[in-house]
Amino acid sequence: MRSAQLRASFLEFFRDRGHTVVPSAPLVPGNDPTLLFTNAGMVPFKEVFLGGEERGYQRAVSSQRCVRAGGKHNDLENVGYTARHHTFFEMLGNFSFGDYFKREAIEHAWRYLTEVITLPPERLWVTVYEEDDEAERIWLEEIGVDPQRFRRIGAHDNFWSMGDTGPCGPCSEIFYDHGPGVAGGPPGSPDQDGDRYIEVWNLVFMQYDRDVEGQLTPLPRPSIDTGMGLERLAAVVQGVHDNYETDLFVPLIDAAGEIAGVADRRSASLKVVADHIRACSFLIADGVLPATEGRGYVLRRIIRRAVRHGYQLGIDQPFFYRLVQPLEAVMGEAYPELPRRREFIEKILHQEERRFRETLEDGLELLDDYLSRTDRDCIDGEVVFKLYDTHGFPVDLTADIARERQLQVDYAGFEARMAEQRERARAASRFGSAREAVVDAGESRFTGYETLADQGQIISLYRDGTSVQRLSAGEEGMIVLDQTPFYAESGGQVGDRGELLAAGVRFVVTDTLKQGEAHGHLGRLEQGELSVGDVVSAQVDEQLRAATVRNHSATHLLHAALRESLGEHVQQKGSLVAPERLRFDYSHYEAPDEATLQTIERRVNEQIQANLPAEAEQMGFDEALDAGAVALFGEKYGDTVRVISLGGYSCELCGGTHVRRSGDIGLFKIVHETGIAGGVRRIEAVTGARAVAWAQQLDAQQRRLAQTLRISPENLEHKVAQLSERAREQEKEIERLKQKLATQTGRSLLDEVREIAGVRVLATAVEGGGKGLRDTVDQLKNQIGSGIVLLLATQGEKVQIVAGVTKDLTDRFSAGTLVNYVAEQLGGRGGGRADFAQAGGRNPQAVPDALESVAAWVAEQATD
Ligand code: ALA
Repeated sequence: MRSAQLRASFLEFFRDRGHTVVPSAPLVPGNDPTLLFTNAGMVPFKEVFLGGEERGYQRAVSSQRCVRAGGKHNDLENVGYTARHHTFFEMLGNFSFGDYFKREAIEHAWRYLTEVITLPPERLWVTVYEEDDEAERIWLEEIGVDPQRFRRIGAHDNFWSMGDTGPCGPCSEIFYDHGPGVAGGPPGSPDQDGDRYIEVWNLVFMQYDRDVEGQLTPLPRPSIDTGMGLERLAAVVQGVHDNYETDLFVPLIDAAGEIAGVADRRSASLKVVADHIRACSFLIADGVLPATEGRGYVLRRIIRRAVRHGYQLGIDQPFFYRLVQPLEAVMGEAYPELPRRREFIEKILHQEERRFRETLEDGLELLDDYLSRTDRDCIDGEVVFKLYDTHGFPVDLTADIARERQLQVDYAGFEARMAEQRERARAASRFGSAREAVVDAGESRFTGYETLADQGQIISLYRDGTSVQRLSAGEEGMIVLDQTPFYAESGGQVGDRGELLAAGVRFVVTDTLKQGEAHGHLGRLEQGELSVGDVVSAQVDEQLRAATVRNHSATHLLHAALRESLGEHVQQKGSLVAPERLRFDYSHYEAPDEATLQTIERRVNEQIQANLPAEAEQMGFDEALDAGAVALFGEKYGDTVRVISLGGYSCELCGGTHVRRSGDIGLFKIVHETGIAGGVRRIEAVTGARAVAWAQQLDAQQRRLAQTLRISPENLEHKVAQLSERAREQEKEIERLKQKLATQTGRSLLDEVREIAGVRVLATAVEGGGKGLRDTVDQLKNQIGSGIVLLLATQGEKVQIVAGVTKDLTDRFSAGTLVNYVAEQLGGRGGGRADFAQAGGRNPQAVPDALESVAAWVAEQATD
């Protein structure tokens, strides 16, 4: 009996006994988030068992496609190494929803096996759940099974559950004995996992619903769920003991063997490939696509495993997709979705394999290199991690390679590396929020007004926001000194950078933050060790600090110039003073005009040229205000305040660091003025060397432009105006020509209309593009009257995607869905209405494939 006949005879046997024949449901369970894939014949009936759904029948029979990979029932890693494990298989099953129960289920099964396919009873073994007296009685007394071939078994094997939750119950299993020529022991014996005694049929007496806590609630009506793997049954009936030698697999193994040029058809890799092409093809047919998580990731893992085994077989070109056609020859008749989506499946597999092959070689090289250097019999967690992290090797792929080479995998080490990586990510985000992380850090005396290098003793140390006694080389952390010249970020001025040094010790400070009264030096210990109590030499980066003070003093001058030009109402609303630039936010009701901004800029530069002395003075708060110092509204000040004055021009309360004389600023240049909120404006400016560089850059750019246009710099403005006017005119002309062209090409494109699933479809690549393409699509829609139009126009690295669906078809086909479908393949996105939509893609090479895939899309939509 061939497999197709077997499948048919099973369905017929139960149909004759009042069962409704139900077609196989897809592999992705509808509306069931608890389940990755349909993993048993009962899955589509889950709600019927639970009493939540009524069907017009109480007995059903099906041949259900199943995948057992990545979920509760996961056989992925066994595939290739046993005679009977599969990621994809077909489950023959009969079901009773509160109709018959144990007696009839057992009777039906026995009759089918012994009378229809005439298996000798002495080859059959039976097990029941250890507490199930009723089932035992039926088997031994009513059926007359020899007690020699009968066993009671515990819950591990004889209590079946669909998943962590859902319907479940005790079960009874029927085994086939392949005879003494095959190794293995009977059910319940220590070597029961051998290939001699094979479970062929599982009869589940569905009685409970298991909830998340593991509580069992009786089902409304005791029911029957049975499952028999078609592949195993085929092996029994066809007189082979290996599923891979049945007519379901031989053509696939042959096809793969031919591609590989491998004569020995027993190779594990051929089995893996033959198994995986079934799972992958059906998963894709049922809507799963390779992805980085969830169902798509499981699919990706299976594809990658198959590709790796192909590689192992010496196949050096993408090949996996070439097995879809042989698969269709075996299964296409029973599963029409396969021929319907074949091209699409091939395309996805091809693409995924191409991508994976690019990294596969590097990964294997890394692994080989490692293996040649070690004599351990275990692949280090570090290596497993690296393969995963940089080469996209799922861990089960590495485990598979390990198994072939009789090596262990250091899972614990791998997990540790994963945990470390997660911790690093966490630490990185914590480092960013270090400013809130620390309390009671102590108190630091700031000596940085007078000096940029000083000695300080470590009074506290932090790592990841936690107080520690010691930092070691390579660690990041925060150091607090009793005294330091490092300015800690405040008043808009950024924290200093520099180094903390001692003999053999170097800590690089990347930022300095206020922690209460303490200055926290953030950074990394590059060399040596540091402990609380150690004395270090603290050295501020002089150049950065000098650039910062220039900007800070310039900020004060700018503030004063703004008040002078715009009025006394101007208030500082915020500022940032960094080495590279300054930013000053101020209140004012309108944008200053260009002339005013120039005046402000000129006034600041005049103060710089006047080389005013900068003086800092401590005084009482009231005294400072009397002296005309500008205080920031809303700021808290102590009783004594620090007042910075620049000649008689500017006088402000400020704790920041400043130049000695305004001339140190060198040059002040506003580079940007803009509004940032109602009544608040922002000026960005540069000073010193930065300002000079800015001017030079501008000058060079102007000269380059003039050169390109072959004119002298003075004529630049006039010339650019002229050019832009001409460009506008040309654009108009191009649009006009495109429209004209669109009407013309639109007509000849009609020759390419095809008929798919009774729908007129025009999917093609066109020249040009741009706005005119939309009109072309509209015209084509008019011309074909009823149908779907998809035009792809490539311009450089971009693909313009435009689709239209005539109104009469929009209830079945959506242009929006179509462009998305196509855009996804072209690495882009887009969308729109059902009758018209457009999108953009970035992958012109994929255009032919994308166009081809449209037929499958239309066919699928047509049947949905
Ligand atoms: N649902 C049962 C199984 O999968 C029949 O074994």
